[in-house]
Amino acid sequence: MQIDNETKIVSSIAIKQSKLGAAMHNSAYQYFGLNFIYIPLTVSDCKCAVAGIRALNFRGSAVSMPHKQEVMKYLDKIDPIAKKIGAVNTVSNDNGILMGYNSDWIGAMDALKKVCNLQNKIVVLIGAGGAARAIAYGLKENGAKAIIFNRTPEKAEILANEFDLEFGGSIEEIQKLEDYDILINATSTGFYPNVDESIVDESALKKNKIVMDVVFNPLETPLLKFAKNKNCKVVPGYRMLIYQALFQFELFTGKKVPFKIMEKALIDILK
Ligand SMILES: NC(=O)c1ccc[n+]([C@@H]2O[C@H](COP(=O)([O-])OP(=O)(O)OC[C@H]3O[C@@H](n4cnc5c(N)ncnc54)[C@H](OP(=O)(O)O)[C@@H]3O)[C@@H](O)[C@H]2O)c1
Repeated sequence: MQIDNETKIVSSIAIKQSKLGAAMHNSAYQYFGLNFIYIPLTVSDCKCAVAGIRALNFRGSAVSMPHKQEVMKYLDKIDPIAKKIGAVNTVSNDNGILMGYNSDWIGAMDALKKVCNLQNKIVVLIGAGGAARAIAYGLKENGAKAIIFNRTPEKAEILANEFDLEFGGSIEEIQKLEDYDILINATSTGFYPNVDESIVDESALKKNKIVMDVVFNPLETPLLKFAKNKNCKVVPGYRMLIYQALFQFELFTGKKVPFKIMEKALIDILK
């Protein structure tokens, strides 16, 4: 790849970086032969990082933990959906105007819609953090009936009220449900290095449902293994990650890259 004065720079800012964003985006630039580069930057000072994106005229940036809320203070415009979700994970620099978006909800919905229609589906949503907020928004938008559970139930209740969804209670309460269509883990439970953990035991899962995990490392979490044992369709977190990256890629370049290009780059790292 030739880097020169025309190269458009996309960054990622996070306190802890992974190789995945760079692998997915750079492989997609290569696929089209675009003079772009994606650089993951380990950043603790969000305000200075945004000033840097502006001063250095980066094309845009991905934003990861813990900057997704704070970054909103330093942008010129925020997409109304990102405002409602309360988090920005994507910044686009359009001729010096920095605009914030949330692509997590898009990634989650695109991944789910590949396996089902969400209208009127009963969804067990576990979690009340940033990922759960994005998914709660998407579920409401798509006409699903979500019931929210969380380790700290008070947070689930606040989220349910905010998005006009149902409050379920603590995670133990899930066992008491008579039925549901989809179960989603939107917590960090099971994320590397805690790869033996699952937010619920196999006994809490019902047969022949849809189970999604937002955790993308490892590729197959214990929750997804339990789900397969119960003959459920599974939606791994890496699919959500790719769909949200496809949105970012199109925002920055105006091009649609095939899912398989980013999938191969990601799986080469995580397999
Ligand atoms: N696949 C993707 O594209 C994608 C996109 C975004 C995020 N993610 C992943 O989603 C996960 C959550 O991210 P986030 O931004 O929502 O984090 P967050 O805002 O910090 O929220 C964390 C959530 O996990 C729960 N939690 C944490 N540890 C737990 C444990 N040991 N037992 C039970 N619940 C626990 C928290 O419950 P309390 O409220 O009780 O603390 C809270 O609901 C992360 O692993 C992140 O990498 C994936």
